Amino acid sequence: MRLFLVGRGRMGQLLATLAQEKGYTLTGQVSRVENIDWESLPADVVIDFSHASQVEAVVRGALHSGKALVTGTTGWENKQEALIAWAKSLPAPRWLFASNFARGIRLMETLLHALKETFSTYPDWEGVLVETHHRHKVDFPSGTAKHLHTFFPALKAIHSVRVGEVVGEHRILLSGPYETVEIIHRAYDRRVFAEGALWAASWLLRQGRYVGPLP
Ligand SMILES: NC(=O)c1ccc[n+]([C@@H]2O[C@H](COP(=O)([O-])OP(=O)(O)OC[C@H]3O[C@@H](n4cnc5c(N)ncnc54)[C@H](OP(=O)(O)O)[C@@H]3O)[C@@H](O)[C@H]2O)c1
Repeated sequence: MRLFLVGRGRMGQLLATLAQEKGYTLTGQVSRVENIDWESLPADVVIDFSHASQVEAVVRGALHSGKALVTGTTGWENKQEALIAWAKSLPAPRWLFASNFARGIRLMETLLHALKETFSTYPDWEGVLVETHHRHKVDFPSGTAKHLHTFFPALKAIHSVRVGEVVGEHRILLSGPYETVEIIHRAYDRRVFAEGALWAASWLLRQGRYVGPLP
């Protein structure tokens, strides 16, 4: 697998290390994409963990030049609908995006989906989501919080906490008179996201056509 990485920050550096550990060929890595000649880029797949401001340029450049693309960057929900429609109009697009590549988040989605109906019959309960991340994280609420909200619309609020070097925590509190249920996902190491993104890249390369979230 020949990889090109967009983003050289915390995630980008880890992805480069892991990709090399796994024997993938890293053909390049940039922070900014203004000057990239996508057509002549020697890569099968592009992985983007950078900044929302350049997601559109990466999607258009990578997909138009026939490369598979994994987008891990968050904070571009306002462009999502239009970009997905554009990608689907291409002959053979391969684009996978996820606001959180941790497998535990998939478990949380399943739990929330199962809970939704019963919770709607508890009129005296209410639910909130609290997401906590390191102080460098620029977007809030987190993309994962917004994503989880779609599985459990009954949440009355999302609270964002930015402190220290917390890798990522999503906590759902469901509270009724005299009792509370909590569902918590904690990422202990960014490796969980990088491993997930590399898995997604190799999965995507085996597809003829795909536009969507983690399968
Ligand atoms: N999907 C997931 O599982 C997952 C997991 C963790 C993080 N993320 C997301 O991945 C992205 C990167 O996270 P990170 O922790 O690696 O961030 P980071 O350490 O801040 O690195 C950001 C990278 O993007 C570049 N960049 C390009 N345009 C930028 C701009 N306008 N403003 C700021 N940076 C810009 C930065 O370049 P310079 O250094 O030159 O500024 C840097 O290389 C974020 O959107 C984060 O929310 C997703």
